[in-house]
Amino acid sequence: MKPICIVGISGKLGQHMTEHALARGYEVTGVCRPESVRKLERFGDRIAVFPGRTDDRAVVEKAMRGCDGVLVVLAPWGVHDYASGTARAALDLAPPKARLVFSCGWHVSRDGKDRFGWKIRAIVRLGSPILRALRLVDLDDQVRAGDLIFASGRDWTLVRGSDLEEGPSEGLPVRARHAHDPVLVRNLMRRTDALFMVAALIDPTLIREAPAITGPG
Ligand SMILES: NC(=O)c1ccc[n+]([C@@H]2O[C@H](COP(=O)([O-])OP(=O)(O)OC[C@H]3O[C@@H](n4cnc5c(N)ncnc54)[C@H](OP(=O)(O)O)[C@@H]3O)[C@@H](O)[C@H]2O)c1
Repeated sequence: MKPICIVGISGKLGQHMTEHALARGYEVTGVCRPESVRKLERFGDRIAVFPGRTDDRAVVEKAMRGCDGVLVVLAPWGVHDYASGTARAALDLAPPKARLVFSCGWHVSRDGKDRFGWKIRAIVRLGSPILRALRLVDLDDQVRAGDLIFASGRDWTLVRGSDLEEGPSEGLPVRARHAHDPVLVRNLMRRTDALFMVAALIDPTLIREAPAITGPG
């Protein structure tokens, strides 16, 4: 069994990725905040959980030790550089040959050429300063996390997800280099189809790519 680590394993996306990884025969370790460990009870001893914040370098290093792959949820919570601290820990401390797959939203653009619809523009321009002022969420820090990843020489993929919803699988998401590609017009995917991130671990065509994804139409 190939060992992988899921950083941010207790969130909704993290739990879906855990199900898929176990079903595909991976040995799974994960990092989540101590207060969230109970969310993973149903997995029992099929996974090993390392409680800690996902930007806690000591915890993340220990959890990733010996792993061939690392899946990272870049959560934008708080105003303490949580997403960029998480990305930096994974990039700096993952085993040298590990495949790294990060996930964030569409708004993190690699080359600045993504063109967004009104909803994303409103969230980034209007919602983001308010959320940051309330010290709840720092979307710009996800952008900084993206910049760290893009500058890295490691074998990374940054999966930029569309809006998410619950529900049964619709099949592997479609992908494009830019969020305005017509193939992505739906801007909605099922969380369970974060299977895309697990599949990316063994897809060499996605190395150093930042695909925007959404559910098949
Ligand atoms: N690739 C994609 O498909 C895609 C698409 C859109 C967005 N995203 C990314 O995925 C995330 C949404 O994931 P989700 O749907 O699984 O949502 P979620 O269940 O709310 O989990 C998001 C992550 O944030 C953590 N978190 C929640 N509140 C926190 C807090 N106050 N402080 C620190 N960490 C906190 C969660 O950990 P706990 O379990 O400890 O709460 C979890 O690891 C977003 O951060 C976004 O960047 C990905």
